[in-house]
Amino acid sequence: MQTVNTTSLTLKENRLWILDQQALPQEKCWLPCDDVEQLVGHIRALRVRGAPLIGLSASLLIALLAERGLPRTELKQALQTLRAARPTAVNLMNNLDRMKLALAQPDWVAAMAEEALRLVDEDRILCDRIADNGAEWVKPGSRLLTHCNTGGLATAGVGTAIGVLLRAHQQGKITQVWVDETRPLLQGGRLTAWELGELGIPYRLICDSMAASLMAEGLVDAVWVGADRIAANGDVANKIGTYSLAILAHYHRIPFYVAAPHTTHDPDCPNGAAIPIEQRAAAEVTGVSGSFGSCQWAPVDAPTYNPAFDVTPAALISGWVLDCGLITPEQVTDGIFLQAMGSKETLSA
Ligand code: MRU
Repeated sequence: MQTVNTTSLTLKENRLWILDQQALPQEKCWLPCDDVEQLVGHIRALRVRGAPLIGLSASLLIALLAERGLPRTELKQALQTLRAARPTAVNLMNNLDRMKLALAQPDWVAAMAEEALRLVDEDRILCDRIADNGAEWVKPGSRLLTHCNTGGLATAGVGTAIGVLLRAHQQGKITQVWVDETRPLLQGGRLTAWELGELGIPYRLICDSMAASLMAEGLVDAVWVGADRIAANGDVANKIGTYSLAILAHYHRIPFYVAAPHTTHDPDCPNGAAIPIEQRAAAEVTGVSGSFGSCQWAPVDAPTYNPAFDVTPAALISGWVLDCGLITPEQVTDGIFLQAMGSKETLSA
């Protein structure tokens, strides 16, 4: 297969490599990914993460396995196994559906390679369009708050919410980005802080619990987040803590924007309550561990609750910035997001 190079995925000499996002920013460590079990392990451990990226990694691996001669029945099984790796981000399911169609083609090995590469190229284009569309809504001198990590690490391109921040920064409109550390897995503190530093975007890292007082002090002009799934009524599942920010933004009358590709929209999911939310291990709450070391502060047997995502109701969202343009709350007042999206031009599959 043709070489692929993104910030955190590489395909060269017919081998897939992922940049270990658990080791960043302390170590830049590329891990090979040769079979489905290995990739599922990387996805579950968040070594490869972010809604678009997990879908792309799965598509590239499955295309590689087809080229290596894995029989069709095993490829079908592999699609099923990968689909179950993480439940919340719909991009994984969407990409695998596209790969399944390619697998049904007469020349399925070539069709799967083409489709996987097309998905990567499309994601780059979608990110650029989101960035362009979103930057229009950023006012000069903005101090923006973001949550989790939505940048080049999580996509094949410039990212979604971070793509918007980058484009607005290039247009000279950003005074500062407030980066939520994003407990429990610290995607903000580890990954977004690192990416913004690399991009030269001025930022300050905060603990999640500081957002409210910053807003009360008038230090936040808008909140920009990504999405893992957008339901048919516009409700949005994203990293745990997003919903709290939306409530805070609403209370303080601060715009709250969601940036995502149209492929994050799930028309089959009627509302947020129908979005499956991944539950994760207790150890992520009772302590913290990574390339910086490990520490447990709670009693070993402390009962925990650890949902990886939460749902922000459409009513709290000021705008959904997609590749096809901005969708306003007025456009979804009848609760049908798809209709609003249908009037926009999307990148056809
Ligand atoms: O658990 P993660 O790190 O995969 O969660 C990621 C997020 O919630 C992102 O905001 C979302 O996937 C959008 S990435 C462009």
